Amino acid sequence: MEKVSKRPPELVLNRLAFASSRILRDALKPRPRTREQLWLGRYFQKELLSEKIPDVSLRWVSDEIGWGVFAERNFSKMEFIAEYAGLVRRRRKGDLANAYCFEYPLEIGEWTPYLIDAEEAAGWSRYINHSDRPNLLSALATLEGINHIILYTNETISKGTELCYNYGPDYWKHRKNPR
Ligand SMILES: C[S@@+](CC[C@H](N)C(=O)[O-])C[C@H]1O[C@@H](n2cnc3c(N)ncnc32)[C@H](O)[C@@H]1O
Repeated sequence: MEKVSKRPPELVLNRLAFASSRILRDALKPRPRTREQLWLGRYFQKELLSEKIPDVSLRWVSDEIGWGVFAERNFSKMEFIAEYAGLVRRRRKGDLANAYCFEYPLEIGEWTPYLIDAEEAAGWSRYINHSDRPNLLSALATLEGINHIILYTNETISKGTELCYNYGPDYWKHRKNPR
């Protein structure tokens, strides 16, 4: 990945970290999983385990939006882009002020006490911006009993295009509307 910002090295984390062994044990408990999440885990197993960074670059989008992630080659549909990486921890007061939190579901459709916090311990995937017409999909994938939030291409993407996914209505409920 082309580095255009001087980020401290501890920001580079391309996988999940768990804030405590208790949370990891909870995440590993057997639970109902959908066929889709198991299939996605198998389909993208190699990419999830390799933590390889695809051909993308970080570019400044605007003062309002900040950094964004751009394709540095053409991508086909159904290519793995990234895992939403960060620290899995319990929710706490003040999370609404943190732009880098992604809900960490244990079971689809069920409330979860956890989220992935990419503010401090973060992967480059935290720089992917929101779009109402996204070229990436976010989904839950399960590999070796652990859930992962993955981002993969929803369509063919040309070199130079910004990569975006839809953050969902909950994200924007408490924030200024997206551009
Ligand atoms: C996960 S961060 C994305 C990376 C961010 N651009 C940065 O430089 O750190 C999410 C934040 O980026 C900004 N953002 C992302 N997509 C946006 C959009 N479509 N319109 C306006 N702001 C956006 C908002 O400030 C949002 O809270």
